[in-house]
Amino acid sequence: DGDVYKYYADGEWKKSASGKSVSIINPTTRKTQYKVQACSQEEVNKVMELAKAAQKSWARTPLWKRAELLHKAAAILKDHKASIAECLVKEIAKPAKDAVTEVVRSGDLVSYTAEEGVRILGEGKFLVSDSFPGNERSKYCLSSKIPLGVVLAIPPFNYPVNLAVSKIAPALIAGNSLVLKPPTQGAVSALHMIHCFHMAGFPKGLINCVTGKGSEIGDFLTMHPGVNCISFTGGDTGIAISKKAGMIPLQMELGGKDACIVLEDADLDLAAANIVKGGFSYSGQRCTAVKVVLVMESVADALVEKVKAKVAKLTVGPPEEDCDITPVVTESSANFIEGLVMDAKEKGATFCQEYRREGNLIWPLLLDHVRPDMRIAWEEPFGPILPVIRINSVEEGIHHCNASNFGLQGCVFTRDINKAIMISDVMETGTVQINSAPARGPDHFPFQGLKDSGIGSQGITNSINMMTKVKSIVINLP
Ligand code: G3H
Repeated sequence: DGDVYKYYADGEWKKSASGKSVSIINPTTRKTQYKVQACSQEEVNKVMELAKAAQKSWARTPLWKRAELLHKAAAILKDHKASIAECLVKEIAKPAKDAVTEVVRSGDLVSYTAEEGVRILGEGKFLVSDSFPGNERSKYCLSSKIPLGVVLAIPPFNYPVNLAVSKIAPALIAGNSLVLKPPTQGAVSALHMIHCFHMAGFPKGLINCVTGKGSEIGDFLTMHPGVNCISFTGGDTGIAISKKAGMIPLQMELGGKDACIVLEDADLDLAAANIVKGGFSYSGQRCTAVKVVLVMESVADALVEKVKAKVAKLTVGPPEEDCDITPVVTESSANFIEGLVMDAKEKGATFCQEYRREGNLIWPLLLDHVRPDMRIAWEEPFGPILPVIRINSVEEGIHHCNASNFGLQGCVFTRDINKAIMISDVMETGTVQINSAPARGPDHFPFQGLKDSGIGSQGITNSINMMTKVKSIVINLP
């Protein structure tokens, strides 16, 4: 059936024996755009075997050769930016320019990972025994980093290419093999990206990509005994996965409720520009989006006016036209966002714009005078709606930020660097940005969430290290 995209295993494109497919609905047209194979559990078993076998020889492939292949894949990926971006536009309604940026950023990430990998994996440690009490200098310890085995990579819909390669590249450079399970929305973009790795000429079976229904193969994959590491980005399913997974390293990033604290001495134009960019880019569907503004009452009117003026300039419409605000990923997501809006309305929030929705397209909305009893004060909308909570002290802002079950990033706007550092120190988040909106990049920076926002740290160096274990050889002298 030529209409259904094939999955990738053993260096080949394959049809599922199940004969079943999964439909991908275009968020803009709300019609089926693509279909992918619904892989079965038997097919997953086969892929795991292939990945295990391919990893053994890959681990013995010289590091510089692994890096060379990654550089090649990065170049091919960038050459195919237009066609992959087109899929991103159709599958996840990412604005056209941002879709191209995602692919270019991904190519750069793969190259940087290859470079970083040859440096950090090219070094080991040499220890001598006589520094520990009671020992003579009779033992030499040589330790180096070795791969974990098969890495299972599960990226989310909002960066199906970039958050896939941020797992694939470190896994491969470190000598692991890979099983990728892309999100349904974004699966075809991911398959195109995998095709770039295929064209680069990696060994058969080393990289595999299975598509299908989470209900059929989700738990089966994450609980599979052949998996030696899981790198997951997504929603709170990550918490369930962490409870079911075996005794293997886990790397997870599970969303956030990033607070933006604005002090009285802040540059309000700078803050407003970052709030709009941070809150509304890709229609708020970023784990690092600004998700609650906590502003000192004395400057709140001025800030809200500035933000409102900028929100009025956002273009709303289809991703093909590169509009700022595009349809959210699914109808159920739009319904969830609407539920948060209605709850805030009932409880008396001030609407800075009229609420408007057509299909999955939701117009950007700033909600002022939000109070802690409203769901939007705590829940992550993953949509273009942003609550403003007015605070009377910095402590009140910090308290709200730290009362969240999330702890991904946060930001603080002030001209007083001492205050900025003191506030950053006490905010219980993986990263705090001073005078800028939260963001994961540049991609070599450490990226981590505290509390329900995740496990472990990402970023190129941290991911390479996480996907390895230490092996020692001790030479005992006579
Ligand atoms: O959605 C989660 C991403 O890791 C956020 O990445 O800050 O580059 O948008 P970003």
